[in-house]
Amino acid sequence: MTELTDIGGPAAQAGPVAFPQDRTCPYHPPAGYAPLRDGRPLSRVTLYDGREVWLVTAHATARALLADPRLSTDRRRPGFPSPTPRFAAVRDRRVALLGVDDPEHNRQRRMMIPSFTVKRAAALRPAIQRVVDGLLDAMTAQGPPAELVSAFALPVPSMVICDLLGVPYTDHEFFEEQSRRLLRGPTADDTTNARDRLERYLGGLIDEKAGQAGPGDGILDELVHHQLRDGTVDRAELVSLALILLVAGHETTANMISLGTFTLLGHPDRLAELRADPALLPAAVEELMRMLSIADGLQRVALRDIEVEGTTIRAGDGVLFATSLVNRDTTRYEDPDTLDFRRPARHHVAFGFGIHQCLGQNLARVELEIALGGLLTRLPGLRLAAPAEEIPCKPGDTIQGMLELPVTW
Ligand code: HEM
Repeated sequence: MTELTDIGGPAAQAGPVAFPQDRTCPYHPPAGYAPLRDGRPLSRVTLYDGREVWLVTAHATARALLADPRLSTDRRRPGFPSPTPRFAAVRDRRVALLGVDDPEHNRQRRMMIPSFTVKRAAALRPAIQRVVDGLLDAMTAQGPPAELVSAFALPVPSMVICDLLGVPYTDHEFFEEQSRRLLRGPTADDTTNARDRLERYLGGLIDEKAGQAGPGDGILDELVHHQLRDGTVDRAELVSLALILLVAGHETTANMISLGTFTLLGHPDRLAELRADPALLPAAVEELMRMLSIADGLQRVALRDIEVEGTTIRAGDGVLFATSLVNRDTTRYEDPDTLDFRRPARHHVAFGFGIHQCLGQNLARVELEIALGGLLTRLPGLRLAAPAEEIPCKPGDTIQGMLELPVTW
């Protein structure tokens, strides 16, 4: 398959570029971002409500600013940029980890780190392999064709995070649907209601666990029976931690599995290279993370004036990070629009950078390796069951991925 769109896009346009925009080709940044790829480290962009904010597009600047304590992730602060009306609707809600600055962030993060180390992720390999094998068994028993998002890409991370947290997978339809509404519901009300339902559900689950004589195996059980009991966290904070872990733990990885598969099927030479040398899988996962940059448009607000190469970001200014452009900065990556498993891709910012860098990245890498590896070995004839142009991908104002992925083999 050839590239689905010309990523050069239109020539420089007058006035700030709108952000975010929909991708035309699911694995490339929107064509409308072309004027932002002119080598400047940051530009002005316009949000849906007409407000102008900064957009960081250069690799070195992004890493410096993402590690800069003068930028805050506390969305309740004045000036914090809301990229969508949905986001604005829940801006005043408590968001653990991602929505708090140090020292509160540090306290929460230290509580969670032991559960998400490289070692813990590696120890989960056999359990993740069982999940992947079971789903592929079911797919092959059913026979082609299949819709890969519902048959595989979503259940893999959903089952894994349920097991890890101690959330019953039998409730998956409920929390997957509410997460979908939270991230891309049709209206702001829908988002608020989804958030309420998820909070009530997780609050109930925490109360249930608190009523049990001893802890079960999950991270939530541990937190309830230790940190909640000794007062290190209160119930509201625990609900908020559970919510971010559950939502971030399944939605993002599901999108990477679906979009990663779609991208590989659009690059038959890379696919053949990977099949011939499965040892390339970890590098392929890293390069796919860089190229797809599914979490595009990370948000911050400046607490003080910050000088960036002759430009001043003023206190109270909104700052967004276009990971899709940062990860294609030509001063950092040679030929960045090309998928190349042999390049050193590791310093991408697809998992963010600085104190908020993705807590679940070690787990996500292991899940992606096992899921993509399983698909390639068990379904050697895997291909799209519809023309690539007709397969719907997610809108630009949410985490990128495929809405559906019809495949056959
Ligand atoms: C491929 C899949 C994933 C991608 C692309 C991804 C991406 C990201 C990004 C970009 C951030 C930083 C956001 C910012 O700085 O504004 C982040 C933070 C976070 N991610 Fe992930 N993530 C993935 C998987 C996971 C998984 C499996 C979990 C499991 C629990 C998880 C939990 C979190 C949490 C809790 C944070 C907030 C960390 C903090 O603020 O300290 N993510 N993720």
